[in-house]
Amino acid sequence: MSAASRRVLVVGSGGREHALAWKLARDGAEVISAPGNAGTAQVGENVPIQACDIPGLVALARDRDIDLTVVGPEAPLVAGIVDAFQASGRRIFGPTARAAQIEGSKLFCKQILHRGDVPTAMFREFRTPQRARDFLEAREDVPVVVKADGLAAGKGVFVCPDRAAALEAIATLSEDPQFAAAARGILVEERLDGREVSVMAITDGRTIVTLPALQDHKAAYDGDQGPNTGGMGAYCPTPFVDAELMADIEARILVPTVHSMRRAKVPFQGVLFAGLMLTPQGPKVLEFNARFGDPECEALMVLLDSSLLEILDASVDRRLESIQPPSWKSGASVTVVMASEEYPGSVAKGRPIRGLDAAAAIDGVEVFHSATRFADGPSPRSVVNDGGRTLAVTAVGETLARAKLRAYSAVREIRWSGAWCRKDIADKGIDHVRMLAASDADPAAGPTGARL
Ligand code: AMP
Ligand code: GLY
Repeated sequence: MSAASRRVLVVGSGGREHALAWKLARDGAEVISAPGNAGTAQVGENVPIQACDIPGLVALARDRDIDLTVVGPEAPLVAGIVDAFQASGRRIFGPTARAAQIEGSKLFCKQILHRGDVPTAMFREFRTPQRARDFLEAREDVPVVVKADGLAAGKGVFVCPDRAAALEAIATLSEDPQFAAAARGILVEERLDGREVSVMAITDGRTIVTLPALQDHKAAYDGDQGPNTGGMGAYCPTPFVDAELMADIEARILVPTVHSMRRAKVPFQGVLFAGLMLTPQGPKVLEFNARFGDPECEALMVLLDSSLLEILDASVDRRLESIQPPSWKSGASVTVVMASEEYPGSVAKGRPIRGLDAAAAIDGVEVFHSATRFADGPSPRSVVNDGGRTLAVTAVGETLARAKLRAYSAVREIRWSGAWCRKDIADKGIDHVRMLAASDADPAAGPTGARL
């Protein structure tokens, strides 16, 4: 079937899903988003079915004769959307519910890593808060990380400088009703120090296609200050992962994880997303996710020259080894998340957003929507904010510094009441490139050979 006649369903409503829909549309597919947002409506059709309405999505795929479904967020994956599609004979990109446990259960992840001898933080697991407290009281007062075993919308991880903070985290996990399900198991982990990077690989369960490394910015405010968020910006490729380190990450982390899952009879098909800490002892896994990162996906898609559709097809059909390695634009990309007032707290919605067209008109800029909707009718003039992380303003450039300049020129065109963003996205990477240049080292970055 030619790309022109392909109908693809993208499940989700964030910036990641807009970037996937945008790229798939450029690859020639007819894209339907469920439920989508005001941005995805501009690259295809939106159907108002929620990402967790699995029977509704299966019916949509059947009724609209969808040829391939791509799932953005983790919740439907963990809830079994892939199993449901497969049971009704429909093609879908992503891991089964059991395989998605690599993200859905931190303990399952640790077991897979342990069996594959993959480097990660040392940990202990506790079935009751009291056992976790006893453990902390009995040992030296050192920094630890306390984690809920299950999915907790990114809020179940507490990096604790000392015992008192760790005890407080355990109290929060055991008392706050929002953690009731996720905190059935509690992990206490060694705190790792170093630089954090994101490395994703698309796999069919046997072969992996590694994507260029990125850096996310999880803290809300400049200088990595303030509360943890879903991610306030990303850039690609990051110079902290050179070709040699990437080969090491593949050989010691990604490939053994894929094999370990296969040996455990839980083969993983889809995107394996490794959150890594680059420690003095080498890269170690902080966590695995079972999907594309957000905002990492936005920064990746604008650099991908090859057809995403072909890569996803090859993963679904278990023939990744037969396709050419993807080609990437030279240069770099930067995504700046524009958030609404009070994020990461709860935000006021429905504020009109201005300047989207002027921003998108800047050469090399794509404005992906993370949480928007139309107030009345599908016109750019009626776009309003509909959540915290609202836009993912993305730009490419020959260098990281130029991509950053462009992204922020676009940000300056856009306004709504209460809009804000971090001003320092990509600065760590830009400083590192300068440092490498000053020390005359080879600034090659990433598996793409792209130079910053
Ligand atoms: P999340 O992506 O919401 O699960 O947040 C996890 C974040 O907690 C990571 O991005 C790290 O910044 C931090 N983190 C998790 N585990 C560790 C660890 N063992 N040592 C240090 N930081 C950690
Ligand atoms: N940006 C981190 C994540 O998607 O989990």
